[in-house]
Amino acid sequence: MKRCVGATLALLMLATRAGAANPWDDRTLGPDQRADMVIEKMTLDEKIRLVDGEFGSVGTLHGQEVDPPSGALMGSAGYVGGIPRLGIPAQFETDAGLGVATQGNTRGKVRERTSLPAGLATAATWNPELAFRGGAMIGAEARASGFNVMLAGGVNLTREPRNGRNFEYAGEDPLLAGTIVGAEIRGIQSNHIISTVKHFAENDQETARTIVNVEMDEAAARMSDLLAFQIAIEQSDPGSVMCSYNRLNGDYACENDALLNRLLKKEWGFKGYVMSDWGAVHSTAKAANAGLDQESAWVFDDENRFGDKLKAAIAGKSVPMKRLDDMARRILRTMFAKGVVDDPVAQAPIDFAKDGAVSQADSEEAIVLLKNDKALLPLSAGARKVAVIGAHADAGVPAGGGSSLVYPVGGNAVPGLAPTTWPGPVMFHPSSPLKALRARFGQAELTYADGADPAAAAKLAAASDTVILFARNWDGESHDEPLSLPDGQDALIAAVAAANPRTVVVLETGNPVLMPWLAQAGAVVEAWYSGTKGGEAIARVLFGDVDASGRLPITFPASVDQVPHPEIAHLGEDNPAPYDLAYSEGAAAGYKWFDKRNLTPLFPFGYGLSYSTYAYDGLTAKVEGGKLTVSFTVRNTGSRPGKDVPQLYVGHSGDGWEAPRRLAGWEKVSLQPGEMKQVTLTVDPRLLARFDAPSRKWIIAAGSYDLSVGASSRDLGLTGSVRLPARSSP
Ligand code: BGC
Repeated sequence: MKRCVGATLALLMLATRAGAANPWDDRTLGPDQRADMVIEKMTLDEKIRLVDGEFGSVGTLHGQEVDPPSGALMGSAGYVGGIPRLGIPAQFETDAGLGVATQGNTRGKVRERTSLPAGLATAATWNPELAFRGGAMIGAEARASGFNVMLAGGVNLTREPRNGRNFEYAGEDPLLAGTIVGAEIRGIQSNHIISTVKHFAENDQETARTIVNVEMDEAAARMSDLLAFQIAIEQSDPGSVMCSYNRLNGDYACENDALLNRLLKKEWGFKGYVMSDWGAVHSTAKAANAGLDQESAWVFDDENRFGDKLKAAIAGKSVPMKRLDDMARRILRTMFAKGVVDDPVAQAPIDFAKDGAVSQADSEEAIVLLKNDKALLPLSAGARKVAVIGAHADAGVPAGGGSSLVYPVGGNAVPGLAPTTWPGPVMFHPSSPLKALRARFGQAELTYADGADPAAAAKLAAASDTVILFARNWDGESHDEPLSLPDGQDALIAAVAAANPRTVVVLETGNPVLMPWLAQAGAVVEAWYSGTKGGEAIARVLFGDVDASGRLPITFPASVDQVPHPEIAHLGEDNPAPYDLAYSEGAAAGYKWFDKRNLTPLFPFGYGLSYSTYAYDGLTAKVEGGKLTVSFTVRNTGSRPGKDVPQLYVGHSGDGWEAPRRLAGWEKVSLQPGEMKQVTLTVDPRLLARFDAPSRKWIIAAGSYDLSVGASSRDLGLTGSVRLPARSSP
């Protein structure tokens, strides 16, 4: 044994010495020290190279096609040249949070990879462990595809339920979104690659995203959207933060001193680098001095701002040399800290079966059972005649559009649907729900109808024992969508459900939708965009092979009048003039808005049925060392094993609270029939506080705080209270 340890040590020393061509190769040194050593040796041009990003696909500049630089991985989002003479590798950047995406015009080359379900779906699992595993899986695929930077980690809070990118994000609550996205980023970076968190900040709608000026009170932002970022950053230490397209309180996010220098770098102590979103840079000196460290894929900007222009700004002293050193140092120290230099990426084979299982596990826990009259679900194999209708369920499951799109192994299951170009193509993963259901139904006769003819579909439904009706929307980057299902699907569902009350509606949407037919449907599940193995995941949940354990991370409004901004200004317009968008709802996003206004949503935040039932009891609270800990029990009172998500909310009637209640914790628990577990949650003090902008502190007022526990934000049967002493912290 001793000999073994000795031999390993000797080998390690040899490895360190052998690799130590440069002093900064010494892995025993910290990343800051190593980065400082490299900076010392760098020329001005080399520093500029690190901060000046290129596109990884064929771009267009002033109407001309521009090839990616040699060395870039074709079809990727970005490339930043390395410095071979100093042993610094290039940065190979790929989108995004659902897997390795294919980006832009690639001259026909696509990368077929594993897709997780939508980010919103992963949030619906309320299971950070699954988010971590999903992140670890897509990070490993990124690595095996030759990428060392993954543009994942979308944590923009849902303020606008019609936002075309909500499917990439993690819902409307800062604690839930920050925790889930933080776990995913940790998973990605466990592969010794860099992940971003994005889009910083307040980029909460796609309409006019590049020109809109979001006006938001600072305290409200800190208590909502920025809190989601802060939690994700604390939990994962992402290598990079991507600043967003929009302006915030007057300045573009990528040249916003208050956001980047003051908040992110100074107050939060962020040590990584800020990269711009693609086309989000509008200046050279202003952006560099405000805290932007890297211009991404400059062909997307009006001109190259961090190339020769930055060099000129350094010469003219409008950007100090020490600022350029800081920009380069932040990038280098991140490359050292995350393992990008020490553990270079290399292309390698991928085990798609294994990775598909990771995606499927995520998807199975994400599916939310919204309605289940007369226990129509779980299905049983006993049916004789089953109708499966709509949404190309014979072929596959839909994906959202835009830069996050992962091209599936085996190709698009439904090619040719419009739009076929950006933000398309409309993609279906070849995981057919019909096929997966057929395998489960055994002897039953399954008939598929595409749903194009509602009368024919209703006739088929009337002649069937059970109907499984799929409906979908197509959300995607650069556009927002109405809350209604498109293409006459509401009429289709109404006709089918009227013909057969044993109709199970499976929604495949990236956002909440209105359900004018809800009263007629026997059962409704929200399956989201369910990823590479979505068909199998849906069948397993419908059959109860696994419990229905997803819970909504986003409120489903009953009508568009209920949301804070019933109209999206300039919706669908191509080039509106710049305008201001005031987030007048402040920190009261999502369920907080509904609670504050006493509005009854269609389905509330946190809601979702299980195939079993649960009871909560024994609420206790204690305050120790200034920390509030809350305990209670949860018991499975039904006859099936299941998974529940008991949620704790806190409330306070004092000043500065945006809403009656805030989510303060939850646990995903697995319980056998009759089994009971104790849940103990420690509450983040910021969730008991208000942010005081002048003193830049979180202030907890002395007094009584309400505690409530239950199955959703609107089903909180177990209540109590606790007295807290006054406290403030930065
Ligand atoms: C998106 C980013 C993405 C980037 C690179 C932009 O359009 O907003 O999320 O990472 O493109 O593809």
